[in-house]
Amino acid sequence: MKIDEVEQPGFILKDSLLEEIRLYWNEHIHDLELAKHPVGSKGFFADLDEYRFDKLRYLPEVVDFSGYADKRILEVGCGVGIDLFRFARGGAKVTGVDLAEQSVDLAQKYFAHHDLEGTLQLGNGEDLEFEDDTFDMVYAHGVIQYTANAKKMVEELRRVIKPDGEVIMMVYNRVSWLNFLSQTLGVGLEHEDAPVLKKYSIDEFKKLLENFSSVRILPERFPVKSRLQSGLKAIFFNSFFVPAFNLVPKTITRNTGWHIMAFAKK
Ligand SMILES: C[S@@+](CC[C@H](N)C(=O)[O-])C[C@H]1O[C@@H](n2cnc3c(N)ncnc32)[C@H](O)[C@@H]1O
Repeated sequence: MKIDEVEQPGFILKDSLLEEIRLYWNEHIHDLELAKHPVGSKGFFADLDEYRFDKLRYLPEVVDFSGYADKRILEVGCGVGIDLFRFARGGAKVTGVDLAEQSVDLAQKYFAHHDLEGTLQLGNGEDLEFEDDTFDMVYAHGVIQYTANAKKMVEELRRVIKPDGEVIMMVYNRVSWLNFLSQTLGVGLEHEDAPVLKKYSIDEFKKLLENFSSVRILPERFPVKSRLQSGLKAIFFNSFFVPAFNLVPKTITRNTGWHIMAFAKK
């Protein structure tokens, strides 16, 4: 598949860091290596969905994918569209934008395999082409931490939701079990080589969201057995760390969740 198969005249990035980010994500599609089926096939997307929702078991518990029927949803940084597909399957009118042509192209294929409607296009979350107050919900899961100017993106997400709408976001927690484990065991985290990767404390994330009228923060993503590692570290992680961690009451570990979810009102 060639990058310029997705054509969108007028999509020009003036910021060189954003251009670097775009190039990186064109070559590092999130979770791509986890799929067993050929890239772009129906089975490929089923693999990615299965992997994602096994790893992120919390996600369907805190995000009601089928609760937005007839609502307008925008996903910024939609990747290959795994989450957006679930919203669309639940009846939402969905739009997905991403900087990376490869992702947009794959997301279009995913929807086409299932005859599902959705607008999937190139777009920069720091400079959205939509009018103010357009969407009932805007979703940006694992995106703000990778963009050049997080504040600019967050303000754009806020601008395009309707006055009674909601923005749902996720960034990585610097003060988390996974960051601690990665530093003590020397295990690399996914996409640590991305041009931008910022991890936040809960307070830093709240500060970033200070212009919203209300924000509910929910740290999530606690240890589950990993398919990514192998060898002694994997045995330690899967057989000792995961069961031991999960014995500790959530009231103690809650703020160490790797994913800081935020549910924000305009
Ligand atoms: C880790 S992936 C997450 C993809 C998807 N949201 C998920 O949860 O699987 C980060 C995505 O954010 C996109 N991205 C980064 N900066 C962006 C920006 N300024 N505008 C739009 N997309 C952006 C990347 O192209 C990439 O697809």
